[in-house]
Amino acid sequence: MNFRDRLEALTLLLRPWSELWSRSILQNWPESGAAYPDSWLSYAESLDEAGERRLDEGALPGAPPQSLQSLLLALHALTELPWHQGVQRLAVADAQGLNAKKIHEVERVLALLEPRTRTIRQAVDIGGGMGHLARLCVKSFNWTFHSIDRDAALQEKGRDWLRRARTLPRDKLCFIHTSVEDGPQPAIDPLFSGRESASMGLHTCGPLALTQIRKSQDAGLLLNFGCCYDKLDAARDLPVSRFGEAHRLPFTRHALFLATRGRRDKTEAEFALMKRVYGQRFALDLLLRRRFPERGFVRAGDAPKALYAESFAVYARDRLDRLGLDVGMTEAELNSFEASVRSETRRIFLCHLLRDRFARALEVVILLDRAILLEEMGFQVELLQVFDPRLSPRNIALIASRAD
Ligand SMILES: C[S@@+](CC[C@H](N)C(=O)[O-])C[C@H]1O[C@@H](n2cnc3c(N)ncnc32)[C@H](O)[C@@H]1O
Repeated sequence: MNFRDRLEALTLLLRPWSELWSRSILQNWPESGAAYPDSWLSYAESLDEAGERRLDEGALPGAPPQSLQSLLLALHALTELPWHQGVQRLAVADAQGLNAKKIHEVERVLALLEPRTRTIRQAVDIGGGMGHLARLCVKSFNWTFHSIDRDAALQEKGRDWLRRARTLPRDKLCFIHTSVEDGPQPAIDPLFSGRESASMGLHTCGPLALTQIRKSQDAGLLLNFGCCYDKLDAARDLPVSRFGEAHRLPFTRHALFLATRGRRDKTEAEFALMKRVYGQRFALDLLLRRRFPERGFVRAGDAPKALYAESFAVYARDRLDRLGLDVGMTEAELNSFEASVRSETRRIFLCHLLRDRFARALEVVILLDRAILLEEMGFQVELLQVFDPRLSPRNIALIASRAD
């Protein structure tokens, strides 16, 4: 794939819609809603619950406006990435105690690595947690492996796993407790260097992926799955490639948060919960704006899940108490307020469903920029979808190897 062409085409497609994806809907309501074409909103308002769910999955049931249809088709085409197909099944004993997500991930990563790592003899995992990947790589490939994490408790659990793995050559896996940072770290930097060395990062939060890339310039192979893009600093952490710099998009922290939300196929229950949570939260926001306009946007925080299932009055009381605010309304008045703004909260919800269509494209832009940076460093680079997004939604692998 030509990453530069793809990034250029995506930025051209996304730039005219930046008012939608770069701003928070709720924080800027009602101005934010005005950025959504009327035809899109009337179409979304015409959908029933099943239609809304289809829209959330990226489909356009019924008779969508042409502009929305062609945008989604183009976004779909430009975010499509090749799939890695292979699976290296774990033995029953190796899979024991791992959750379904971890088994799914490790089985695919092992298969992905096998044909690409013939010359690799040692590896390092940034944010290796309990070291499951490390342990199973040692078993499969007989590499020497260093698993680095700043969480000592996770590593201690990992050592327990290692003690239980009777057939494993234990001296081959070493846990290093430290925080990996930009800048020189003489104790660990050599681990990332050498054509026989592989550098791994399986779900490196935010800028940790960039730290991994910078430390691995002399590695034989780099494998990274990004996550938590909202932990990136929009001004500092992107674009990172020279080509990306010439095709800069107006990323904001709201856009970065949106990039973490690309996820397909919610179950009916998950969709219903999301709708309920949004409905309660939006009604509270409208209430606060009317009663306390001088406060502007008020952060309400996440409520315990069970609270969203209660009436609006119960949810609102809990949040208002936490905020130390008194609206002087009875339970019945609060519930009737919620009913009176329901068409507006639905509109805010529909704007979110429409805005979510940009999530995967923003993630792909971030990863294309990283892929191009690695090409600029002289690596041969692949971007592949590896995990089933229902199990592991941050499913795109960035794989870089030395051309020689
Ligand atoms: C999302 S978890 C992924 C864990 C593991 N790779 C996996 O796939 O299960 C991210 C891990 O990175 C670790 N981490 C985050 N920032 C780090 C840093 N700067 N240096 C070392 N470890 C870090 C966290 O402690 C956490 O264990």
